Amino acid sequence: MKKILVSRAVFPDVIERLARYFDVESNQADEMYTRAELGAKLADKDGAFVAGNVIDASVLEQAPRLRVVSNMAVGYNNFDMDAFTRAGVLATNTPNVLNETTADLGWALMMAAARRMSESERLLRSGAWDRWSYDMLMGVDIHGATLGVIGMGRIGQAVARRAKGFGMRVVYYNRSRVAPEIERELNAEYVDKATLLRTADHIVLVLPYTPESHHTIGAAELAQMKPTATLTNIARGGIVDDAALVEALRERRIGAAGLDVFEGEPKLHPGFLDLPNVVLTPHIGSATLATRRAMANLAADNLIAGLNEGPQAGHPPT
Ligand code: DGY
Repeated sequence: MKKILVSRAVFPDVIERLARYFDVESNQADEMYTRAELGAKLADKDGAFVAGNVIDASVLEQAPRLRVVSNMAVGYNNFDMDAFTRAGVLATNTPNVLNETTADLGWALMMAAARRMSESERLLRSGAWDRWSYDMLMGVDIHGATLGVIGMGRIGQAVARRAKGFGMRVVYYNRSRVAPEIERELNAEYVDKATLLRTADHIVLVLPYTPESHHTIGAAELAQMKPTATLTNIARGGIVDDAALVEALRERRIGAAGLDVFEGEPKLHPGFLDLPNVVLTPHIGSATLATRRAMANLAADNLIAGLNEGPQAGHPPT
């Protein structure tokens, strides 16, 4: 039987399924392995099921038998793909199954930022609310506003699709234009980045993290946004220069932000914690039971198929 490592805690029934095909070592205690520890664990493994672990040449060099690493995530910026190619190791991810759930969270953050939900709740919890007043906690409208989507892949399209119900105009910026029928379906207009920054009332970032997308939003971009605009990041930390964003929010150069991901997470820029105009969530974009189960099962399927086991390979489960 081939040997695999499951490097993070995951649904027990998914591990049981993997155990029908493989000799499984699993980390249900969910220890965060260092690269050296992960390399040592992989030294005798043919495959790995991971979730966010950084895998680079230093890890792969310790794993001569490794053939497949299955990432339980759509983003794979935790993998050094050049090192995978050099080592001849297949990398897989879990696209599509999380599109709608992640888009939902993008909208939740955008709406919470626009309508000052966290600030409102903090006021109530503090016991300081003593009366209704006409100008208390005034936000900005979502309906009828212009949504700017940066990154029009499958999650970006799911974000844009939701704008219809709110009567929004949709503009988007992407490495390349999407197909005309998708633009028509979404009623989305392709614009350059500067136009999007200048015209959007609410900007949502949905692009993969690569060296090219590093600090897609920095001080210069924030300076181009409307002073009332919101910025939502459901993609990856590093796409936004968090220090520049803290400054822009503090000086009210933009209205508010909704952030699910952070540079250097799980640490976050301490400046965010003191700001009223930012809504913060801890990388929960895909965190619903149904979606996390779909991701785990897809990651398991990828590993089974990648290691040439499973029904297609004529290996029915016992
Ligand atoms: C993803 O799938 O990339 C999510 O952000 C979880 O890491």
